Amino acid sequence: MTARPICTRIAGTGSALPSRAVSNAELAQKLAQRGVETSDEWIIARTGIRQRYLAEPELSTAELGMRAARRALEAAGYDAGMIDLIVVATSTPDQVFPSTACLIQARLGAGGAAAFDVQAVCSGFVYGVTVADALIRTGNHRRALVIGAEMFSRILDWNDRTTCVLFGDGAGAVVLEAADKPGILASRLHADGSQASILCTAGRISEGAVVGDPFLRMDGQAVFKLAVNVLDASAREVLGDAGMTTAQIDWLIPHQANVRIMAATARKLGVKEDQVIITVDRHGNTSAASVPLALDEAVRDGRVQRGQVVLLQGVGGGFTWGSVLLRY
Ligand code: UT7
Repeated sequence: MTARPICTRIAGTGSALPSRAVSNAELAQKLAQRGVETSDEWIIARTGIRQRYLAEPELSTAELGMRAARRALEAAGYDAGMIDLIVVATSTPDQVFPSTACLIQARLGAGGAAAFDVQAVCSGFVYGVTVADALIRTGNHRRALVIGAEMFSRILDWNDRTTCVLFGDGAGAVVLEAADKPGILASRLHADGSQASILCTAGRISEGAVVGDPFLRMDGQAVFKLAVNVLDASAREVLGDAGMTTAQIDWLIPHQANVRIMAATARKLGVKEDQVIITVDRHGNTSAASVPLALDEAVRDGRVQRGQVVLLQGVGGGFTWGSVLLRY
């Protein structure tokens, strides 16, 4: 008798946000005090963002990630002790090392589970799910937490209006588990390191000090153009792998950076606007946390139902991008 191939399914989702939402108007007022000019109208028209959550100084990436993970575990009906793999996607870790995954593992009480971080900026969650899926399908791991957790407010230059109005803090998580049918239907990851400079935080720690620029810098227009092209190609790649068509997508959950990028991607794919899950209006761009935050919201409000086909897409610094096609 041949062994059945192992597949991976989502057993539960969760998310967490800092307690304080900051509206565009409030942010514009604060920035004006520094001589930085922006407006609610500009931010909404160019991005669709109306507010973002900004963490209080004492909140850590690990704490926020742990809260999202707890909710995903609750939704799946599992104890932390039943998890044997923790993958955290973050570009804003609490420490140089150990990984945020290890810090979360300790807080959860999931001792013994393998734990490591994946650093692929806004594509991080899609990278993390792909890695965890592959490890589950080897048979070495049975139940994984994949968490996207970010504190982008810590790397924003509040004097740079081209970036500081765009980002927010948050975390989202899924429990993935071995199953006898998918679940995850196809996934593909890509990067183009030659485009590193269009979105980066170039500074590093050396000899007790930050060397180089510690703030996020972005050439917004260059990122915008690349994003629309790669998201369309990446969607078609995973659909091809799964032998499916765009007409079979029930829900598109792209990285939440800009409603204009999401609308352009949906248009190119022929996916209707009301099939796109959008949270960027309330969360801003939360980098690796944006896709699991949006997924959790859509699962909890009943839009995403068991059996439906969902396309998750990440794109961002690196330059990195990728897609995960799954049957929820
Ligand atoms: O998370 C990773 C993925 N990231 C992304 O996908 C972001 C991709 N890029 C974008 O979303 C857009 O390019 C932005 C939202 C960043 C910018 O929108 P845009 O339509 O490309 O605007 P722009 O950069 O062409 O700037 C237009 C004008 C400029 O003024 P001038 O030169 O026309 O006089 C900017 O100086 O808007 C000005 N501007 C602002 N004005 C008010 C830039 N930032 C602001 C601001 N408030 N915050």
